[in-house]
Amino acid sequence: MLFRNACLENSSSLQDFRVEDGKFTEIGNLSPFEGEDIKDLGGKLVLPPFIESHVHLDTCLTAGDPVWNMSGTLFEGIECWSKRKERLNENDIRERVKKAVHMYASHGVQFIRTHVDVTDPALMAMKTMTELREELRDVMEIQIVAFPQEGILSFPNGKELLTEAVKMGADAVGAIPHFEFTREYSVESLNFAMELAARYDKLVDVHCDEIDDGSSRGLETLAARALELEMFDKVTASHTTAMHSYNNAYVFKLMRLLKMSRINFVANPLVNIHLQGRTDTYPKRRGVTRVKELMEAGINVSFGHDDIFDPWYPLGNGNLRDVVFMGLHVCQMMGYEDIMNSYRFITHNAAKTLHITGRYGIEKGKPASFVVMDAKDYYEALNKNAVVSESYKDGEKIKIQ
Ligand code: FE2
Repeated sequence: MLFRNACLENSSSLQDFRVEDGKFTEIGNLSPFEGEDIKDLGGKLVLPPFIESHVHLDTCLTAGDPVWNMSGTLFEGIECWSKRKERLNENDIRERVKKAVHMYASHGVQFIRTHVDVTDPALMAMKTMTELREELRDVMEIQIVAFPQEGILSFPNGKELLTEAVKMGADAVGAIPHFEFTREYSVESLNFAMELAARYDKLVDVHCDEIDDGSSRGLETLAARALELEMFDKVTASHTTAMHSYNNAYVFKLMRLLKMSRINFVANPLVNIHLQGRTDTYPKRRGVTRVKELMEAGINVSFGHDDIFDPWYPLGNGNLRDVVFMGLHVCQMMGYEDIMNSYRFITHNAAKTLHITGRYGIEKGKPASFVVMDAKDYYEALNKNAVVSESYKDGEKIKIQ
């Protein structure tokens, strides 16, 4: 099939591309074969599919059930969740995850990395998510991070539960060093998670220093282990909000290690601008990691939604445009080029985070997965909140439910 007159990733002139057997076979100024199906895109924007690089699908779509978070704080969120958790069962998780995945799909998302709480002796959410990962494969590629929400060292049998989750088929190993009881536990939890991932050849994605405490320094341990174990870009540091509060002399020194380690970062601007800085009076910190500085140092950063309509974040409909929109404001990245290229936070940069770049992107020979937007470029798409009119996965148009 020949697609004509596409604005490919903000290209200044329109281009055509051909899709055969689910792959891109030609890109350029093309003439149709005899009898070939032709679709004229009329100058619309074509991008690689969107990627959610950080979300918690097991808690999504539970806001206000049974109670609303009235203060909006993390701590009241935990109280609300403990009430909701009483009714958590396999069917409940299935229904909500399926709904959320279809919401994402309707906005052109084709890949999701979800963190799943494994501080549960029954590992119910983990078991259910591994089943859903297969069932939803035609619509969404899902990566599962075994996420020890209540700690590895600070939760009974935390190490065993994390190991079991990896054996059940988690794609990545998580950790939460800033939540561990002590600094020693924090370091030990990271060593354990990294060695577990190395042993089972898994990716790593750590909730790293998601706190406004400038002395929370899990990041240096994570980066050092990524370097020493030669795991490099298989490792991701999510949140790193404490980095917002690190002193500049320390960040200057840390940057050398971060560059050497080649780890990825995920910032979650919607949730962190909402939840961080809550213990501050004024001035209030923004609580989002140093995105601009990391990017300038050549370090990969993607953006995630983190929570969708749950006790910790009361809004969200699976449209990553909102994440980008907030991220650009909070990180003061509103220059023309910044805005034009900002789709990369939820496409190419996120593909690096998910470690899928070899089979991602609009290039000859790669799977023909892409989205079409009602806009002439991403600047307009972002500014006018343009819809994703079509989403193709491996050459097939995804039916949006
Ligand atoms: Fe998170």
